[in-house]
Amino acid sequence: MTQDRNIEKAIAQVDAVLAGELRAPHVRAFFHEPTFTASYVVSDDATRRAAIIDSVWDFDQPSGRTSFEAADEIVAYVQEQGLTVDWILETHAHADHLSAAPYLQEKLGGKLAIGSEIITVQGVFGKIFNEGTEFARDGSQFDRLLEDGEELMIGEIPLIALHVPGHTPADLAYIIGDAAFIGDTMFMPDYGSARADFPGGDAHKLYRSVRRLMNLPDQTRVFLCHDYKAPNREEFVWETTMLAERTANVHLHKDVTEDEFVEMRTQRDATLEMPRLILPSIQVNMRGGHLPPPEDDGTSYLKVPVNKL
Ligand SMILES: [Fe+2]
Repeated sequence: MTQDRNIEKAIAQVDAVLAGELRAPHVRAFFHEPTFTASYVVSDDATRRAAIIDSVWDFDQPSGRTSFEAADEIVAYVQEQGLTVDWILETHAHADHLSAAPYLQEKLGGKLAIGSEIITVQGVFGKIFNEGTEFARDGSQFDRLLEDGEELMIGEIPLIALHVPGHTPADLAYIIGDAAFIGDTMFMPDYGSARADFPGGDAHKLYRSVRRLMNLPDQTRVFLCHDYKAPNREEFVWETTMLAERTANVHLHKDVTEDEFVEMRTQRDATLEMPRLILPSIQVNMRGGHLPPPEDDGTSYLKVPVNKL
């Protein structure tokens, strides 16, 4: 036993699916190659209720133009399948793509949820972007702020939110039936782990979050937020199992100690460039996917803080 009631609850939920006592959710992935992001529609076949996880709003940085190509694919799928969207979920405030949550909410309905620690992220980045008092740092841009262990329903299939900080302070994993949407914690076993060097990131916490997730049963279906291919792999893959992660993850397999991981992660992070879209992404995603309020000409502007990141 782990003395961690919330992970115990998630283990029991996956076991119930494996024992045939609980329906497994249907998972449809949408891979956005420009940002290497996997978005998901997770649905209950019997009730046709669904959740959307980590959507993408296309943004062309050179022209400052947005478009809804990726989001419209999700809208088309949901409509074609006759699904009712109850939840639009973010695993965290992404630094590499803008969220399409407000657009999807307008088209499909559903409530927008993220981890309650988003208020910490809003505090950190509110400062970095020198936002005025009109930028609320209380998470009020979201419909629901989730704590560790909180439960939602996707039709008749339960969802358990697990707080898995490290990449950012607010990261959540969503365990829906036997499917774990682990956000930016681990990537495919041959690629390793998410970076931990953004403001508020912490490699020690990331290690502990992953070890916590690794308590889930071997057969847990694991869905990633990103894939970047890997040496000797030419195809994008965004689904694996907990057994594969535990035995073969190049950064975090079960024999790697916390000190070894932190040393490796810190050295590697020092060599990484900032994500191409970090500045627009954070400014939009800390607002629940909304642009900053328009200026007096009706246009929204995104800032570039010089020498701040
Ligand atoms: Fe991320």
